[in-house]
Amino acid sequence: MITFTPSFARYLAAKKSVDDRALNAHVWRSMAQAVTAMGGAHVLEVGAGIGTMVERWHERGLWPPVSYTAVDANPENVAAAQERLAPLKEQAQLTVTAVDLYDFIAQIEGRQTWDVLLAHAFLDLVDVPTALPALFSLLRAGGLFYFTLNFDGATILQPTIDPLFDARIEALYHRTMDERRVNGRASGDSQTGRHLFTELRHAGGEILAAGSSDWVVFAGADGYPDDEAYFLHFIVNTMHEALSGHPELDKDYFNAWIAHRHAQIESGDLVYVAHQLDFLGRKL
Ligand SMILES: C[S@@+](CC[C@H](N)C(=O)[O-])C[C@H]1O[C@@H](n2cnc3c(N)ncnc32)[C@H](O)[C@@H]1O
Repeated sequence: MITFTPSFARYLAAKKSVDDRALNAHVWRSMAQAVTAMGGAHVLEVGAGIGTMVERWHERGLWPPVSYTAVDANPENVAAAQERLAPLKEQAQLTVTAVDLYDFIAQIEGRQTWDVLLAHAFLDLVDVPTALPALFSLLRAGGLFYFTLNFDGATILQPTIDPLFDARIEALYHRTMDERRVNGRASGDSQTGRHLFTELRHAGGEILAAGSSDWVVFAGADGYPDDEAYFLHFIVNTMHEALSGHPELDKDYFNAWIAHRHAQIESGDLVYVAHQLDFLGRKL
C-alpha cells in the first residue's frame, strides 16, 4: 500500500493540465468572443483556488481584463494564488481575497456588480438552488456567467476490478456528494451539470452555450503527463476518505480495492473519466 500525503494545493496545480484538455472548446470560444466584444470587463471568480483560471485567461489571450477579483474561502489556496499570480498583477487590477462566498455576498450587499462571473469546478460543491440567486446578485443585468467543470454523475475507472463492487463504489461515492453538508448547508449534487439547465433559467439566466468537459486521464508511452499521476492518487484518496467506515462496505475488501487502484496508477494502467458540463450565459 503506498503512503499518500494529500496536498490540496498540489492537487489543484496537477489538475490544471487535465482541465486544459477538458474545458469545452466551443463554450470557451463563445465566452472569449463575448468578453472581447465587451471591450473591457470587470471579472469576478468565485472558488478560484490557487488561481489557475486566472493563468488560463492570460495564457489564452484574454489578459488583461479591466479588473479581476478572485475569491476563495481557503487561506492556503489564496496564499498560493498570490504567489503564482504576482507577475500578472503588473498588467491588470488583480485582487485575490480569502473570504467565504456567502460572507462576501453579505459584505457586497448589492452595492457592486461585475460584468463577468466565473465559477470553475465549484458549483457542484454548493447548493445550486440557493447559491445561484445569491451569485447572480453579483452580476449586472446582461452580464456573462461562465460556469465550468460541473460534475454530472459519472465516475469511470478502468480497468474493471470487480464489476458489481466497482459500480457500488461509484454509486456510494456519488451519494456522499448528494448528502454532503458544510456549515449546516446542503453542499453538493452529483448531477449538478444536468440540473443547471433548469436551475440557471429559474435564477434568471439565459444559456448561450453548453457542452461537455469530461476529465479524461490516461498514461501514454511516457506515463501520465505532467503531475497527473498525483492528480489520480488524490482522486482515489478522496474516494477512500469519503467512503472509509461506510456501513455498506466490507472494510478489508474496500481497502484492498483502493490499494489496487493506487497500484494501477503506479503501473500506468488506470484510466479515469469524469463527466462534467460547461455553461456560458447571461443574466437577463
Ligand atoms: C474543487 S476546488 C476548485 C478550485 C479552482 N476553481 C480550480 O479549479 O482549480 C473548489 C474551491 O472552492 C473553494 N470553496 C468551497 N466553498 C467555498 C465557499 N463557500 N466560499 C468560497 N470558496 C469556497 C475551495 O476552497 C476550493 O478552493
